[in-house]
Amino acid sequence: MTEKEIEKKYFTLTNDETGESYKLPVIEGTLGPSVIDVRKLYAQSGYFTFDPSFTSTGSCKSRLTFIDGEKGILLHRGYTIEELTEKSSFLEVCHLLLYGDLPNQNELDEFTKNIKYHTMVNEQINYFFRGFRRDAHPMAIMCGVVGALSAFYHDSLDIYDKRQREISAHRLLAKIPTLAAMTYKYNIGQPFMYPRNDLNYAENFLYMCFGVPAEEYKPNPVLAKAMDRIFILHADHEQNASTSTVRLAGSSYANPFACIAAGIASLWGPSHGGANQAVLEMLSEIGSKDKIPEFLERAKDKNDPFRLMGFGHRVYKNYDPRAGVLRESCHEVLEELGVKNEPRLELAMELERIALEDPYFVERKLFPNVDFYSGIILNAMGFPTNMFTVLFAVARTVGWISQWKEMVEEPTLRIGRPRQLYTGPTKRPYVDINERK
Ligand code: CMC
Repeated sequence: MTEKEIEKKYFTLTNDETGESYKLPVIEGTLGPSVIDVRKLYAQSGYFTFDPSFTSTGSCKSRLTFIDGEKGILLHRGYTIEELTEKSSFLEVCHLLLYGDLPNQNELDEFTKNIKYHTMVNEQINYFFRGFRRDAHPMAIMCGVVGALSAFYHDSLDIYDKRQREISAHRLLAKIPTLAAMTYKYNIGQPFMYPRNDLNYAENFLYMCFGVPAEEYKPNPVLAKAMDRIFILHADHEQNASTSTVRLAGSSYANPFACIAAGIASLWGPSHGGANQAVLEMLSEIGSKDKIPEFLERAKDKNDPFRLMGFGHRVYKNYDPRAGVLRESCHEVLEELGVKNEPRLELAMELERIALEDPYFVERKLFPNVDFYSGIILNAMGFPTNMFTVLFAVARTVGWISQWKEMVEEPTLRIGRPRQLYTGPTKRPYVDINERK
């Protein structure tokens, strides 16, 4: 069905002052609430809509990801996140997001070959790293080096060329783990490890992070599986802050490397991808189970900026299906590593139990989100807390680039340009500096 055929329903808006009515088309998707098309409202009525933080505004049409926050459902191209994490691999999910379908064996082999072909980065990028202080936050380095890719791969910057768009997408998927691992190695003063294409995506990433030239590295299959699962769980999440940032940056026809760097900057914040780091820092701050009530009271106090990190979600108001999968993975990883009675996991579980019984959290439908458990697993694997958001960025790159590709391929693409409600001073005469009070 085309959009025109669907646009048979209307929503009528009446101005109480003038009595004038405006007929606004209703557009239906395949799942989820329909939307009221307000594109012509200003021309008809002289009014814009007001929706700060875009809590009620659909900014695009997308075929990639569907979330039902009330029911705790997350689908990628129609497949549930539970099935994908159980049965698929990250590269299969990348193919699904980028091209629309799960690959058959030949397609997967071809796609894997294409990604592996691009895993190395231009050798000159090594020198680019050296401009950073060793103690720079890894996300600060990532914002810089990913943006810098546009200075290295001039042959895939023409966004009007389908093949160049595809090569850029493959390059980003292939090089982001290499850059993330280099960031970690740079921080700890160890030599960069070149990628190994005999390993799978997750194994290679763990090798580049934890391998050293002096010793042979054998990937641990349980940890590699858990890493792959973490990548799948973070692959895409429809129009969140970083994805919307990528789309808005790309709507001006900026090149994809620059757009993904913009997404990384947005992801960094503690309300978004930075929450996994914040969860571990919070658990360390709480320290012991007897302190939980004190911190819960602080989280409820509106005069205290403290929030329970890893709790709550803009869309999920029942449970975050990603958190359930990670909770399970968390136990598997800790068992594999022989970590018994991990104090932070015990503290996290107790915090979860008490918070879920507390009327404040129950009434506001605040449940653990994906970040509540990911930090504990990543920490057990050996990643320092400041690397957690980088791992989120590695996984989310496929979502960002798929959303970017979908947008650029939309024939009606126009530069994004939100409106505003101006509340500043009205026009006033300029005051000379000698006359200012
Ligand atoms: N701790 C204490 N109170 C909270 C929390 C929390 N973590 N989250 C929400 N609330 C309260 C909030 O104060 C408000 O209370 P009231 O109605 O009395 O004013 C109510 O719950 C509704 O919250 P909101 O601020 O309207 O929710 P939001 O949709 O704007 O925020 C959020 C969503 C994720 C930013 C927020 O829940 C939060 O800051 N959580 C902690 C950070 C976090 O874990 N972020 C990771 C999100 S999942 C990964 C990702 O997708 O990036």
